[in-house]
This record gives sequence, C-alpha cells and structure tokens, in this order.
Amino acid sequence: MEKGLVIKYFNERFGSEKCSVYVSPGRINLIGEHTDYNGGFVFPGAVEQCIVAAIAPNGTNRVRAYSIDLTDYAEWEVDDKDGPDATCFRFVYGVARELTDRGVLIKGFDTVFAGDVPLGAGMSSSAALESCFAFGLNDLFADGNSVSKWDMVLAGQATEHKYIGTNCGIMDQFASVFGKKGQLMRLDCRSHEFEYFPFNPEGYRLVLVNSCVKHELAGSPYNDRRRSCERVAAAIQQLYTERKIETLRDCTWEDIEAVKSNCTAEDIRRATFVLGEKDRVLTVCDALVKGDYEKVGKQMYLTHTGLSRDYEVSCEELDYLNEVARECGVTGSRIMGGGFGGCTINLVKNGLYNDFVQTVTRRYKEKYNITPQIIDVIIGDGSRKLQ
Ligand code: GLA
Repeated sequence: MEKGLVIKYFNERFGSEKCSVYVSPGRINLIGEHTDYNGGFVFPGAVEQCIVAAIAPNGTNRVRAYSIDLTDYAEWEVDDKDGPDATCFRFVYGVARELTDRGVLIKGFDTVFAGDVPLGAGMSSSAALESCFAFGLNDLFADGNSVSKWDMVLAGQATEHKYIGTNCGIMDQFASVFGKKGQLMRLDCRSHEFEYFPFNPEGYRLVLVNSCVKHELAGSPYNDRRRSCERVAAAIQQLYTERKIETLRDCTWEDIEAVKSNCTAEDIRRATFVLGEKDRVLTVCDALVKGDYEKVGKQMYLTHTGLSRDYEVSCEELDYLNEVARECGVTGSRIMGGGFGGCTINLVKNGLYNDFVQTVTRRYKEKYNITPQIIDVIIGDGSRKLQ
C-alpha cells in the first residue's frame, strides 16, 4: 500500500489530507522458534511486506479508526475501559493504552490503515500493526515524553497479553521495530542484547511458501506450549532450590533428565525441543560466519522435525511442503513462526529455485487443491515515518 493511497482513504473518511504516515514490517525468522518466551535466542529480520497507517490527532478524546483491508470502522474513547470488540482495532486500542501507561499522553486521533503482510501466514501481521501504532503514536503524542524503541516493542507484546490473550514472546515486535535492510538480527531474548547480522547468502535465496491454511485449534495451543515449558522449568527449580531457574534458558539436558518422572511425557518432549532449538541457533550463527549454508540448512530441517514431532505445532500441509522441499534438494526448509499453518521458510540454491517453486506449487495444488503463495524474502527496514 503506497503512502498516497492511505492518504486518499484518510481524506475520503475524515475530510482532510493532514496526517502523518507510518509503516512497520512483518518478519521472517531464520531459526530459533518458540525460544523467545523461554529466554533463548532468535534470528529474525524485517521484510518488505508491512502495515501502513495514516494518523492525525483530532483534538478530542475519541479515536476513529478505519481498516481499509477489512472495510471495518470503529470509534472509542481513549480512556474507555473495555475498548472495541473487533480484533484489528483492539491492537490499536491496546497499544495506545500501553503507551499511556509508559508516559505518553495519548489523546484522540483519526486513522486509516492497510497492509500487505499476509494474515495467518506466520509473518507477524499483528506485530506489524502494533509496532506501526506504537511508533506513530509515540511520534505524534510524546511531546518530550517519548519512549524508547524497546518500550514500543514491550507495548506491542503487552497488547497481545492483555488485550488479545496470546502470551507471545518478544521476537515479532522486536523484529518489526528494529529491522534493518539486508540484516538479520540475533537477539538474546533474556538480556535483550542483539546484534545485526548482514545476510547475503551468496548463491542462495530465501523463499517462503505459504500453505494458505490456518488450523485454529480449540483453546489456545500457543499458550499451552508456553505453559508446558514453564512447568518443566518450575519442576527443575523445585529440584535445585539453590539455583535460579527463570526459564528453560537456565536448564541443561541433565536437568530435563532429572525431572523426567515429575513431568508429563508431553511436557518433557516440548522442553526437549526448546533445548535443542537453543543449540541450533548458535550452530547456525557459527555456520553463517563461516558461510557454511549447507550446515544452516541442516539445522532448519532439524527444527522442522522438532516442531512437528516434539512441539507438535505443525500440520499435514506444512509437513507436506517440507517433504517436497527435501525431495527437490532444497538446502533447508522448516515451519516459520508460531505454527498450525502459515509458511515454510526455505533456503534454496539459486540454480534450484525455479524448479523448486514450480514443483512445490504443482504438487501442493494436486494434493490440497490450493495454490500456495510464493514469497521471495527481501530483508527490509523496521518501523519508520514515511516522509
Ligand atoms: C509467534 C509469537 C512469537 C514466537 C513465535 C514462535 O510468532 O508471537 O513470540 O514465540 O510464535 O517462535
């Protein structure tokens, strides 16, 4: 969505072109899945697909918001206790409240927003929306009380926890806010230290294959996974009271072995995946420095297997996409993001790219009668104001 187009919609709805336009991207993650809320490492980067929002203070206490993609409109008072019902507006409402709690004096505003981050694809369209408003509202209302980029990240995450009900980690909001063109970021989710990592794999490309399915299971399987990890960490803490165990980050393979009989087999399987994934991120970092992409790819396949068998966040369609990638000789392939549908991320040799894209498209269509969406990854910039 171009800047001109959101301004046009803004003008149609609110009768003025006076607004500021902000943009925040979705993300990919090379490796390190379900490690963020376990205090581990992640390796994301922002993408070019993003959310764009035109925003202008309106001099009242009312928020008036229009979603171009969903053709939906809502209004609410800034200090309303409950906020709007529709999820897309709850993100906006939640972020405004969270920024207020962090000292930004937010008043009424008008906004129109749209985006091209595919929904339900595991590319973090929600974080893109949260970060866009965190960045934009901070810019418009801070008036000397501006918050840091990390506060924006945390405001987005808190919105998920308190207003949406997903107990997510910080990877998605972090990637959306801090992204940089051509660079992946290795983030330590416990200390919040991170470094940019130029990503230019000579001879290879990253491509997403969107299964275009989302299996909404009953309850909240994402939160269930998180709870499994917390239970195992708590069991280890109980056994070793002299140590401080906050998350699985503080645990070793021996620790898991030691609490095997105190936890369910399912919880142990989940924890096993997380510990393995923690090691894989570090192996991938090392391999990237050496330019050893074959090794990177092997770790990606291992992650897929773990997410599918132990963490159980895959589905038939994603396993099939992974299998086809393997058969095509793709270097690395795995589920990306929270799981239960969405995309696989694939590291493909340039010479194989066309063959892979054609084969996976044909075979997936033959089997599920769905044409998968092929998305070439271009690592882009994080949250910003469009001049
Ligand atoms: C979702 C969450 C993230 C992270 C991933 C899995 O995208 O929002 O915090 O846990 O799943 O790695």
